[in-house]
Amino acid sequence: MGLQWDLIGIITLAGILMFHCFAHSEKAPYYTFVKDANSAPEIAYYDYIIIGGGTAGCPLAATLSQGARVLVLERGGSPYDNPNITNMENFATTLADMSPRSPAQQFISQDGVFNVRARVLGGGSVLNAGFYTRADTGYVKEAGWNETLVNQSYEWVEKVVTFKPPLMEWQSAVRDGLLEVGVLPNNGFTYDHVSGTKVGGTIFDTEGHRHTAADLLQYADPTRITVYLHATVQKISFNYNNGTARTRANGVIFKDVFGVEHRARLNKNSKNEIILSAGAIGSPQLLMLSGIGPSEQLEAHGIKVMVDQPLVGRGMADNPMNAIFVPSPRPVELSLIQVVGVTKFGSYIEAASGLGFGYSWAQRLPRDPGLAVNQTDQPFMGSPEAMSEAAKTINAAASTPLRGGVVLEKVTGPLSRGHLELRTTDPNDNPAVTFNYFEEPEDLKRCVEGMNTIIDVIKSNAFLEFRYPTMSVRALLTVMLNVPVNLRRRHARAAISLEQYCIDTVMTIWHYHGGCHVGTVVDHDYKVIGVDALRVIDGSTFSGSPGTNPQATVMMLGRYMGEKILRESYSRRRK
Ligand SMILES: Cc1cc2nc3c(=O)[nH]c(=O)nc-3n(C[C@H](O)[C@H](O)[C@H](O)COP(=O)(O)OP(=O)(O)OC[C@H]3O[C@@H](n4cnc5c(N)ncnc54)[C@H](O)[C@@H]3O)c2cc1C
Ligand SMILES: *[C@@H]1O[C@H](CO)[C@@H](O)[C@H](O)[C@H]1NC(C)=O
Ligand SMILES: *[C@@H]1O[C@H](CO)[C@@H](O)[C@H](O)[C@H]1NC(C)=O
Ligand SMILES: *[C@@H]1O[C@H](CO)[C@@H](O)[C@H](O)[C@H]1NC(C)=O
Ligand SMILES: *[C@@H]1O[C@H](CO)[C@@H](O)[C@H](O)[C@H]1NC(C)=O
Ligand SMILES: *[C@@H]1O[C@H](CO)[C@@H](O)[C@H](O)[C@H]1NC(C)=O
Repeated sequence: MGLQWDLIGIITLAGILMFHCFAHSEKAPYYTFVKDANSAPEIAYYDYIIIGGGTAGCPLAATLSQGARVLVLERGGSPYDNPNITNMENFATTLADMSPRSPAQQFISQDGVFNVRARVLGGGSVLNAGFYTRADTGYVKEAGWNETLVNQSYEWVEKVVTFKPPLMEWQSAVRDGLLEVGVLPNNGFTYDHVSGTKVGGTIFDTEGHRHTAADLLQYADPTRITVYLHATVQKISFNYNNGTARTRANGVIFKDVFGVEHRARLNKNSKNEIILSAGAIGSPQLLMLSGIGPSEQLEAHGIKVMVDQPLVGRGMADNPMNAIFVPSPRPVELSLIQVVGVTKFGSYIEAASGLGFGYSWAQRLPRDPGLAVNQTDQPFMGSPEAMSEAAKTINAAASTPLRGGVVLEKVTGPLSRGHLELRTTDPNDNPAVTFNYFEEPEDLKRCVEGMNTIIDVIKSNAFLEFRYPTMSVRALLTVMLNVPVNLRRRHARAAISLEQYCIDTVMTIWHYHGGCHVGTVVDHDYKVIGVDALRVIDGSTFSGSPGTNPQATVMMLGRYMGEKILRESYSRRRK
């Protein structure tokens, strides 16, 4: 019975089994400048205050500290305290940790899809599947970035956090399968985003330890940076000029773990700034909590409007992920993403293996009041009989522990857009986020083409050893249709089309972005439009997910903007 419920683990790439006992050889960096927020003074002054020590915030802070006094306020704890976070085999258990101090804060989008946000120094790079790949040159051009500085910034990141993955049998079979079904050419190992099949970089070293954005803080000048952990920013404060001059950010209010309020203010100098790097959920949320957002919504929550900015929280997007779980008659290695097929039709095929049964969302959901989904409204339509049938299918095919892997696809872009609204004025609460998966027909078309490619890969000669010949593709699809991968409505599984499969079994690949778009909420220098001394630098500024997976470009952007800001302030000082 427990096993049936645990089937859910498969789909969230959950429950990576421990096949190897990794030795702890790497020494975690020890930073003298990282402290707990309860040691912060009532008020202190800095040149730059960065909200969010995440994937963008860490490289940004390290860079700015080379020329200025920098404060980082991170609501989570240290990734170095907890070996569970660092090791690859704990990928799924960490995501499922629902304790208040967990590095993962679960949320469910209004679409009924389980999701998670980071709450730890290093941000999403501490939780993620580790795949590292740059944006394509077209993306860089379209963003209007300086290509030379972009390349230098990627290299700066790569020197510290990236590795070549040890490609073993199962991932090799996926790669060979992709090549066999025509996702060509074979691009070998590269960080570049190019059409065809490749092996990408990873932030896991050869022993399975992750190297995160927090490791980039080793570039910081320890005499000019302070990082407070368990520092939850409540709001940004402004000089409010009542129409006589521009509104200017001048500080932030944050709370430590005991709920004690502290203030950080900008030193008086026109170049000094507050920089929001709280991620695609946190940054639009904090702008709104600080009075920058749609005025009607802010007023409804009793928030004083600083700037009426209806586009804050608009254009939220999450690339849909759909997957097929393939039980294997042979043992498979433990792997997260290593290989990717970049198809010509805008679907990226990736894979992970060595999955066991980790945890059950279904069991935990009703017990967590933070996960405010009305299950009456959005029931999981799979009946208990269907569930148990799916369990039998899997159990019949695989021995215990279950082995196999998932082949998944991510739709590029996406084109479908959603929105984010405040639920409460508490920054700890999740806002309501709607992604509108597959609202745009092109996204659905790409999903279906991606599913067809996955099916071809599973049927390829290269993959023969890793699937049960007696298990048809339809049986594999049926398994997925009968486990609660999300809270969406299910359609009759007898006559299901791949279109309906995409819609019904959609998951997140956690590449959600948007909410503070360049051109609407921030300008091309990432300055918040309508106020002074405030920028947003993180994934909330993206209008499309860069590369096949975004983290390389998020870290790059932190470094890139840090360099740009320092250069500008030096040239301004020289004048
Ligand atoms: C499970 C998972 C798997 C993924 N797999 C991959 C992958 O394999 N490859 C890849 O390239 N990408 C992957 N990603 C995506 C990638 O990790 C994210 O896109 C990226 O980390 C986002 O960076 P960010 O800087 O925008 O936000 P984050 O890294 O989330 O940083 C935001 C930070 O702000 C902090 N914060 C928020 N609000 C406040 C507040 N009020 N006060 C103080 N601090 C606050 C948060 O705690 C967090 O540390 C994955 C993500 C997840 C979650
Ligand atoms: C690490 O994980 C184990 C098993 O999942 C758990 O018992 C332990 O408390 C975790 N350690 C920390 C520091 O969270
Ligand atoms: C930047 O790097 C990419 C490869 O990642 C390369 O194609 C491009 O020519 C480089 N551009 C510059 C200006 O160096
Ligand atoms: C782009 O970046 C390079 C490398 O940092 C720098 O030398 C160059 O001046 C920059 N170009 C422009 C137009 O700013
Ligand atoms: C702002 O200015 C207007 C007139 O321009 C005045 O009526 C109003 O009282 C002022 N508000 C505050 C809070 O000072
Ligand atoms: C859930 O939705 C149902 C039907 O719309 C409604 O009757 C019920 O009160 C809701 N429950 C909660 C807890 O909001």
